[in-house]
Amino acid sequence: MANLEVIRMGIIGCGGNGRGHLHHYLTHYPEVIRVVGLADPSKAAREAAWEMTGKDPAVKVFASHEPLLKRTKPDAVLISTPHVYHTQQILDSLAADCHVLVEKPMVCSVQDAKAVIAAAKAAGKVLAISYNRHTQGPYIYTRKAIQAGEIGEIVFVSCWQSQNWWASQKGTWRQKMALCCGGQLNDSGSHLLDIVLWMTGLEPETAFAFQDNCETEVDILTAMSVRAKGGALMNFSVVAKSVNFVEDITIWGTTGTIAIRHGGEVWRWKSDRDWGKVSKRKIPPSRRPDDNFIAVLRGEETEVAAPPECGLAVMRLSEAVWKSAASGKAEKVQ
Ligand SMILES: NC(=O)c1ccc[n+]([C@@H]2O[C@H](COP(=O)([O-])OP(=O)(O)OC[C@H]3O[C@@H](n4cnc5c(N)ncnc54)[C@H](O)[C@@H]3O)[C@@H](O)[C@H]2O)c1
Repeated sequence: MANLEVIRMGIIGCGGNGRGHLHHYLTHYPEVIRVVGLADPSKAAREAAWEMTGKDPAVKVFASHEPLLKRTKPDAVLISTPHVYHTQQILDSLAADCHVLVEKPMVCSVQDAKAVIAAAKAAGKVLAISYNRHTQGPYIYTRKAIQAGEIGEIVFVSCWQSQNWWASQKGTWRQKMALCCGGQLNDSGSHLLDIVLWMTGLEPETAFAFQDNCETEVDILTAMSVRAKGGALMNFSVVAKSVNFVEDITIWGTTGTIAIRHGGEVWRWKSDRDWGKVSKRKIPPSRRPDDNFIAVLRGEETEVAAPPECGLAVMRLSEAVWKSAASGKAEKVQ
């Protein structure tokens, strides 16, 4: 699809995470990535990013993405902004002939997900999501084991994620509905929903959820149950009122059980007697979504690790969950 030797890259959103991507480009791809523009309405954020480039005069700095696209004509952009802006920034970047790596959640509605997928297809450009679990060993290992039929047919999934998000994000855009478009379900929870669907290949059919906003504008606690096509059941807990981060995913199949504990260790069971932790030697190496995105643009890899269809699947489920929490009834996943 692309065969770029050098990638002229624009960064839209120079906050904590955008600067993390920039650091990776500067330290790992000095010969491959040429950062041509930085855009952020915050002077402090864009200047902090520009300082990281050694105040390189070849790197142009802007208060918004439109002049960046027009004046620097990048080959690709990284979008790392509050969630409400993702859709328009993806569409504008594709229209400006750019490949796009966008942070999660890709967009904030099913309608927008369909629109950006169609736009990327029409433009013939790569659109990838920075869902980092897709390029991390434990999740790749688990997905492959499931795809190879090693645990049989999936009957049940249980997973939870906790984070000190309610307290740590007070007053930030993440707890403003107009900017985050949801709460923790749309933030760190987006990773959990995505990775379970990606690893299992299950397609949610119906969802029932309770949510508690804990006196904020957005969801803080989510308890949700899902029935997938074919009958498998899933429980997700997204707990943003916690003192610590912890994540756990257990997947039960007809011939085996597989679990990812603390976001890293993989455990497997064939029976009550035959079980244990999978040796680290068997787990593939981890890398960043950027590494895959760059390899695809350089023609070294053909598949995007997290294609936009994953963003659509997450949004389908998220919308059913928010609808169910509001209606008090089980809702169909559209
Ligand atoms: N994949 C991950 O593990 C991971 C981790 C952290 C954040 N993220 C995602 O990265 C994105 C940014 O999060 P963050 O932690 O950097 O937040 P942040 O608050 O640190 O930074 C956001 C930046 O976007 C800027 N901004 C606001 N409106 C903008 C606009 N219209 N155009 C350009 N820039 C704009 C802000 O001024 C700020 O500098 C979010 O989508 C978030 O969910 C992903």
